[in-house]
Amino acid sequence: MTDIAFLLNGTPVRLSGVSPTRTLLDWLREDRGLTGTKEGCNEGDCGACTVMLTDPAKGAMPRALNACILFLPQLDGKSVRTVEGISGPKGELHPVQEAMIAHHGSQCGFCTPGFVVSMAVGHTTGRQDHDDVLAGNLCRCTGYAPIIRAAKAAETAPVPDWMQEAEAPPASSAPEADDPAGFRPKTSDQLAAWYAEHPNATLIAGATDVGLWVTKQLRDLHPVAFLGGVEDLKTLTVNSDWFEVGAGVTITDLLEAVAAPLPSFGEMLRRYASVQVRNAATIGGNIANGSPIGDGPPALIALGAVLRLRRGDARRDMPLEDFFLDYRKQDRLPGEFVESIRFPVKAPELRCYKLSKRFDQDISAVCGCFNITQDGGTVRSARIAFGGMAGTPKRALAAETALIGQPWTLETIVAAQQALARDFAPMSDMRASASYRAAAAGNMLIRYFHDLSGEAVDVLGVTA
Ligand SMILES: Cc1cc2nc3c(=O)[nH]c(=O)nc-3n(C[C@H](O)[C@H](O)[C@H](O)COP(=O)(O)OP(=O)(O)OC[C@H]3O[C@@H](n4cnc5c(N)ncnc54)[C@H](O)[C@@H]3O)c2cc1C
Ligand code: FES
Ligand code: FES
Repeated sequence: MTDIAFLLNGTPVRLSGVSPTRTLLDWLREDRGLTGTKEGCNEGDCGACTVMLTDPAKGAMPRALNACILFLPQLDGKSVRTVEGISGPKGELHPVQEAMIAHHGSQCGFCTPGFVVSMAVGHTTGRQDHDDVLAGNLCRCTGYAPIIRAAKAAETAPVPDWMQEAEAPPASSAPEADDPAGFRPKTSDQLAAWYAEHPNATLIAGATDVGLWVTKQLRDLHPVAFLGGVEDLKTLTVNSDWFEVGAGVTITDLLEAVAAPLPSFGEMLRRYASVQVRNAATIGGNIANGSPIGDGPPALIALGAVLRLRRGDARRDMPLEDFFLDYRKQDRLPGEFVESIRFPVKAPELRCYKLSKRFDQDISAVCGCFNITQDGGTVRSARIAFGGMAGTPKRALAAETALIGQPWTLETIVAAQQALARDFAPMSDMRASASYRAAAAGNMLIRYFHDLSGEAVDVLGVTA
């Protein structure tokens, strides 16, 4: 039986015979008595369960993750630090803990361990964008101002010695195909061969969707394969024309790569969930999940991305929009997995607008992505894609047709707005009503027109 080996607060841990879908949060609290890590929502939303994870394969930079939707096998080969490991071995307080006390950053204290871990990760990595770093941590009583003040106050304090991992995580044994704790392939060839033989298996990448199937739907998943150890699915290459992004690349790493060349895509990804979720979630999972409200697909469709699927040794490419057939129905054969996604490096006209009830850490009600080029004032090409407007992420073909060959004027945009009614018949749900969605999508076209004219259209940029 394959074991799972990792460092917990600097101490080697080796586990065997664990259920593949036992969460780190449950194991910490129930098996190890480490109850500093709290359970709030148990679905990745509140950050009360935040832990620090260091992956030696990615260098020594720690990242914050939510323990409630992190399965034990995902820890293999990594170092985990809980709030109990943030203070020193003799009980010395970490600078962020001292600052939280000094700045009155805690009242009931339930959220505080999660905040402290997120702050300690931000402190270790030298981040000063505290709003972003802490967007995945919710506090119901203190209010954020004292917490942000504490994070700022700790910025210049040196990183305590005890935060350095003194030893490398222990190594686990080689993957076994029928391990009850889940198959953990190291290469995409191993994954391809195994998945072709186990087409009914559940693939688990970041578990930010699958985690909820377990914690909320109490589903029993078997067999499963964990993709986190497949290094060749995590490659992100860029040449002068194209990004080639492996399915296992996290949203955090994608955001870092696209932020400069495709700033609007980057800004949208900055509002994709929270730091903790982005650190786990992969672009492959975001696509394969086929959610109509996923943020990655509309942007990638507007970019003209090409998806690569693999089954055994066979590969096929398709425009991403063709992958989404119907609500939660994708063009994916049994045993076939998402291998990579390819999209242009340059798209100066690309704009992505995410509309959600809350600015940070919220799923889109409507996500509109526009990539329209002009030639001498005439629309030459148009790619428009929406999330939240249909059962799948979908291209607005009628609106595109209404634009192409027309002068780039407000009148043309209004005609394209009307054409949107032929593209979409959105539904009402808890995020938005159908009429609100239809109106918002049309207004995004107007916003795009003004945006390309250089006017301030961002909610953070518009001032009275
Ligand atoms: C609190 C919270 C907030 C969120 N906010 C957002 C948001 O703002 N925007 C957004 O778009 N999403 C959001 N999500 C959803 C989620 O983060 C994404 O869908 C995520 O990208 C899924 O990736 P993953 O690696 O975690 O996938 P997993 O959960 O591991 O898998 C998701 C699905 O994809 C399959 N899968 C994974 N990898 C592959 C592969 N390579 N080939 C084939 N199948 C595969 C799995 O079997 C499963 O069916 C949020 C989730 C949470 C918990
Ligand atoms: S318990 Fe809320 S994010 Fe984990
Ligand atoms: S201090 Fe009570 S929830 Fe934050």
